[in-house]
Amino acid sequence: MENEFAARRAAVARGLAARKLDALLVWFSPNLRYLSGFTGSNGAMLLTPERAIFFTDPRYEIQARQKVGCERRIAKGPLAADVLSAIRRLKLRRIGYEPGRMTCDTYTSLEKELPMKASLAAAGGWIEELRTIKSAEEIARIRRSVETNSRAFEQAAARVRPGMKEQDLAAELEYRMRRLGAEKPAFETIVAAGVRSALPHAQPTAAPFQTGELVVVDMGAQQDGYCSDMTRMLFLGTPPAKMKRAYRAVLEAQLAAIDAVRAGARTARVDAVARNVLKGYGLDRAFIHSTGHGLGLEIHEPPRIGRRDRHRLAVGMAITIEPGVYLEGWSGIRIEDTVVVTGSGCDILTPTSKELRCV
Ligand code: GLY
Ligand code: MN
Repeated sequence: MENEFAARRAAVARGLAARKLDALLVWFSPNLRYLSGFTGSNGAMLLTPERAIFFTDPRYEIQARQKVGCERRIAKGPLAADVLSAIRRLKLRRIGYEPGRMTCDTYTSLEKELPMKASLAAAGGWIEELRTIKSAEEIARIRRSVETNSRAFEQAAARVRPGMKEQDLAAELEYRMRRLGAEKPAFETIVAAGVRSALPHAQPTAAPFQTGELVVVDMGAQQDGYCSDMTRMLFLGTPPAKMKRAYRAVLEAQLAAIDAVRAGARTARVDAVARNVLKGYGLDRAFIHSTGHGLGLEIHEPPRIGRRDRHRLAVGMAITIEPGVYLEGWSGIRIEDTVVVTGSGCDILTPTSKELRCV
C-alpha cells in the first residue's frame, strides 16, 4: 500500500495550487489513514507542494515509523504546537483545513498562534471526494469485509430460535465476524424483532424472539480498515400475506435500484427508482431514509444516494443499496447489499440470499 499512500499525497500536493493553498492540514483519522496508513487516535498531517509532514505523540512513535512513509514529527505536547512551528519554518500563508473534522479547541489554538501573514482557509471534503473512488486494493478489502460479514450472518442466523434474545443474536454476529477475521463491527449491530423492527436504527434489547415476528439484522464488519454493510430479514414461523407483499415490495425496490446503478447515473435517480417501486405498492411514505451511502474506511461516506443528492456515480465507487419501509406498531423491512459501480452496472459484493428467511 505504501506506493498508494504516496500517490495519494502527491495528488493532494498537485491540487494545492488550483485551490490557492500553500498547504493542507489534515486532522481527521480516516483521512490520515487514507494518506498514510496510520491507524492511531492522535495524528495530523501537513501537506505542501514539496513535503508531507506527519505529526503524532510518543504513544504512536513505533507505529508511525513502521507505517508512515513520509516525514514524521513526534510531539512532546499538543500536536498543534509542532504544527505551528512547521507552519512558521516553512513560511506557509494560506493553509487549508477541514472545518467539519477539527474541534473548535484545535482550530482556536492554531488560529491564535498563527504568524501574522498566515491564515486558515476552509478546504473540507477534498480528501473525502478522493476517497469516493476506490482502488483495486481497496475494493479487494471491501470484498473481504463483505464476505466475512456474510459468513458471520450465516453462522449466527442458523442458531436463531424463538426465545433467543435480540442482544444474544447481536453478540453472536459480532463474535462470529471477529473469529472470521474482522477487527470489529463497522457500527453497532442492529437486531430488532416484531414492532421494534420499525425503528430503522434500533438497539438490541433483552426481548426474546417470538413466533410470528419479523427480525431485522443490519450488520457490518471492519476488516483491514474497510467496512461492509448488509441488512437481512428473518421471520419466525410462516409469514402472513401482508408481510410477504411488503417484503416483495422492498425486494423489488432494491433490485430495481441496483439495476439503475451504473457509472454516470445520478444518485437521485437511483433513489427515485426505489421510491417509485414502493409507490406502486402504496408504501413510499413508509420509506423514510435515503436509498444508500458510500462506504470504505468509514461506514457512511459520500456519495449519499438520496432524493436531494446531486452526485453522479463513477466507476470504483462502493455504495450500499438499502430501501426499507417502516410501519409503526407493525414491522419494518429493509434489504441492503454492498455494491461496486462499474462501467456497465455494478458488482454486487454481498453473496447472501435475499429470500425472506423463515426459521
Ligand atoms: N447499516 C446502518 C446504516 O447504514 O445506517
Ligand atoms: Mn447502510
